[in-house]
Amino acid sequence: MGSKIDIELTAGRKMPALGFGTWHASEEEITKAMEEALEAGYRHIDCAPVYLNEAAIGRVLKRWMDAGRVTREELFIVTKLPPTGNRPGGPEKFLKKSLKDLQLEYVDLYLVHTPFAFEEVGDELHPTDEEGNFRMDNSTDHIKVWADMEAEVAAGRAKAIGLSNFNIKQIKRVLDHAKVPVANLQIELHAYFQQNDLVKFCKSKGIAVTAYSPLGSRGFVKLMGKTEVIPTIMDNSTILRISEKHEKTPAQIALRFIIQRGIAAIPKSTNGDRMRKNIDIFDFELDEDDMEALRALDQSSNGRVCDFSFIKGACSHPEFPF
Ligand code: A2P
Repeated sequence: MGSKIDIELTAGRKMPALGFGTWHASEEEITKAMEEALEAGYRHIDCAPVYLNEAAIGRVLKRWMDAGRVTREELFIVTKLPPTGNRPGGPEKFLKKSLKDLQLEYVDLYLVHTPFAFEEVGDELHPTDEEGNFRMDNSTDHIKVWADMEAEVAAGRAKAIGLSNFNIKQIKRVLDHAKVPVANLQIELHAYFQQNDLVKFCKSKGIAVTAYSPLGSRGFVKLMGKTEVIPTIMDNSTILRISEKHEKTPAQIALRFIIQRGIAAIPKSTNGDRMRKNIDIFDFELDEDDMEALRALDQSSNGRVCDFSFIKGACSHPEFPF
């Protein structure tokens, strides 16, 4: 395997460009997948309490560290403030809980998962009413929450902090009040939805970008029943042509395209063969013709898959980002 690439974060920290996504995997699936991912060389692991599998991930990490197979310093662990904790007091409470589950003293990056918030109802991370509508908390105050995120850095529980699913206006507002810089923005980003304006904005502010659903959100496509309308990136004729040219799989081309734009990517796979291939993208380079052809695949906001329509009621929240 060729040499890996790191993405620079603020304050001299680095994040491996290719990370492992853990969404949509049961505790049993993620336990097996994490073992295989660490074997395959993944060191950047993207977690979230709303994925309901942090404790299983923590057990695998502990096993590997106890056995001396990996050190804490070699790992780059990301987790997120759930929408139920998106209010003052939330970052401390929910980061402590994630650290307990992950069996870690600190995370390398802590992100506000969504700009909108849910009510806190007991330990329920997905609180809904009788009709299945999410119980939104419309009093969200990003500035107060960011101050609490900064306190987590001061307390040593997070090395860096950032945002996820925020739009430019929302990020600008946080930046105007931030004492600790916004180190990272995690967003849906793939060949059909290249997020050029948001990426340009982040680069101008020194904010590293991470692409979730970098293979075109097959998970979300399924969740939202859009399998008929959204074609698979891996079947796209341009991707297939470039894939043959470099003797790499279509997924490797889709991922390499993102990495070469200076953006991190966190593909999720519970299939050992696919996850090994997804990280094996550092021994070839796309040339300018390839990059131009791939840039032409952008469908702008028509390429968005994750519009949060599976969170019934979210679009009425004052901070709904789209
Ligand atoms: P699986 O876990 O069975 O590999 P996204 O993050 O864009 O939503 O993509 C994740 C989805 O894509 C998962 O359903 C995953 O399924 C699938 N996937 C991951 N890697 C590959 C690959 N290399 N080729 C095809 N599908 C993949």
